[in-house]
Amino acid sequence: MEKLIVTGGPPSLKGTINVSGSKNSSLPILAATLLTKDQCVIRRVPDVSDANYMLQILSQLGADVERASGNVIVSAEKISHQTPYDIVRKMRASVCMMGPLVARLGKAEVSLPGGCVIGDRPIDLHLHALKELGAKVDVTGGYVIIDVPKDLEGKEINLRGKFGSTVLGTDNLMMAATLAKGTTIIEGAAAEPEVIDLADFLNKMGAKITGAGTRRIEIEGVSELHGAEHTVIPDRIEAGTFLVAAAMAAEKSLNINRVRADHLKAVIEVIEASGHVVTVSGESIEVTRTNNSRGAKIQTGPYPEFPTDMQAQMTALLVISDGISTVVDTIFPERFMHLPELQRMGAVVERQGNTAIVEGPASLTGAPVMASDLRASAALVLAGMRAKGETEINRLYHIDRGYEHIDEKLIGVGARMERKRV
Ligand code: EPZ
Repeated sequence: MEKLIVTGGPPSLKGTINVSGSKNSSLPILAATLLTKDQCVIRRVPDVSDANYMLQILSQLGADVERASGNVIVSAEKISHQTPYDIVRKMRASVCMMGPLVARLGKAEVSLPGGCVIGDRPIDLHLHALKELGAKVDVTGGYVIIDVPKDLEGKEINLRGKFGSTVLGTDNLMMAATLAKGTTIIEGAAAEPEVIDLADFLNKMGAKITGAGTRRIEIEGVSELHGAEHTVIPDRIEAGTFLVAAAMAAEKSLNINRVRADHLKAVIEVIEASGHVVTVSGESIEVTRTNNSRGAKIQTGPYPEFPTDMQAQMTALLVISDGISTVVDTIFPERFMHLPELQRMGAVVERQGNTAIVEGPASLTGAPVMASDLRASAALVLAGMRAKGETEINRLYHIDRGYEHIDEKLIGVGARMERKRV
C-alpha cells in the first residue's frame, strides 16, 4: 500500500503540466480490438491501473498484447469468451467487453461488476440493449452469461435510463451493432467525447457509424472489421483536475497542455464563475488564479453538462472560495465520499441528499484522510495543497487507477508532496 504526504501552504504552483491520454476513452477502445483478428495499435494509452487491468484481461482472453510506453499493440486472433473473474471484478469498466465478445464470438461470460463507493452501478440498460439485438442473457452466480442463438439483428433501441444516458452502455451497444445484420439506431445515446473517440476508432476498423456525439447514433452492420491504428483523445477529467489545481494553488498562473478545450466548456465556465481567468490557445489552457474567488452553483448531467467526474475536485475549490456554493450530482446522487474527509480538514460543507452546500472560504488544516473513489481522492490532493501543515492520503491505489503519476506532475510545477510505502 502507498500513501501520499502533501505539504500545504500558500499558492505556489507555476509552469506547465502535460495531460495524458484518456482513461475513459482507452478502456472501450482496447475492448474494441477484440472485434477483429487483425493487429490494432492504440497510442497514448495512459499508464494507469485500470488500463493495465484491461490489458491483462485481453491477454487472458488469448489476445497478443504488447505495450511499448504509451503505445499498445493488440492482436486478438483467437480468443475465449470467458473473462477472468479475479480481474474483471476489480474494474467495473470491464462490462464493455460484453459488446465485442458477443459480436465476434456470439457469446460472452462476464462477471457482474461490484458496486462501488459512488453508488449503485446497474447494467440493466446494457443487458436490455443486447437482448433487443437478439442475444439471450442470463445473470447467474454473479456472472452475465450471453448467448446469440441466431445472428444479432439491428433495430431501433432506446438507451435512456432514469439517470439519463449510459456511456459504457452506448459503447457496448455500438460495438455489438457493428457486426449485427442490418442497421441499429441508438436513441438516447451518450454524447461524451469518449463515445465519439470509440466511434472514430470503429469506423477506422471498417464500421459504418454516424451520429456519434449526438443522442441518436446509427450503425449499419458489416460482415467483418479489420485492424486499425488510433491515438486516444486527451483525458478531459485529468485536465479538468489540473485546471482546478491552478485555480486553487497557482502562484499566478499555470499552463495545462495537450488538452481539447472544447471538451471542457462546462468546467471552464465554473472556474470562471468562481472568479479565475481562463485563456485557451490551441491545445493549451492557462488558468490565472485571482484573489477574488467566489462561490458557484454546479449541477452535473450527461455531456456536455458539467461532468460528475469533476464534482469532487470542483468542490475542493469551492471550499476555499468566498461565498455559498451548491453542488448537485444528478448522475450519482451518492457521490459525496469526499465531504467527510474535507470536513476533517476544516471544510464547512453539508450534504442534503444529492446536494452539497458549501460555505467558504474555509481555512484548511492538514489531516490524515482516506482516499475512496478515484475523483474524491484527487479532491483531497488538491485540498491538501492549500491546507496548513501535512495531509496524509491513504489507499493511494484509488488515485493510481485513473491518474498517470499525478504526484510527479504536480511536483513538476512546484507542489510539495511525497509518495510513501506503508
Ligand atoms: C462512465 O461510467 C465513466 N467510466 C464514469 O467515470 C463516469 O462517471 C460515468 O460514465 C458517467 O459519466 C468510464 O467511462 C470507464 P453510465 P459508466 O452508465 O458508463 C445509470 C471515472 O471516475 N445506469 O454513464 O459506467 C448509472 O447508475 C468513472 O472515471 C443505469 O441505471 O456510467 C448512473 O447513474 C467513474 N443502468 C448513470 O446511469 C445502466 O445499465 C450514468 O452511468 C447503466 C447506467
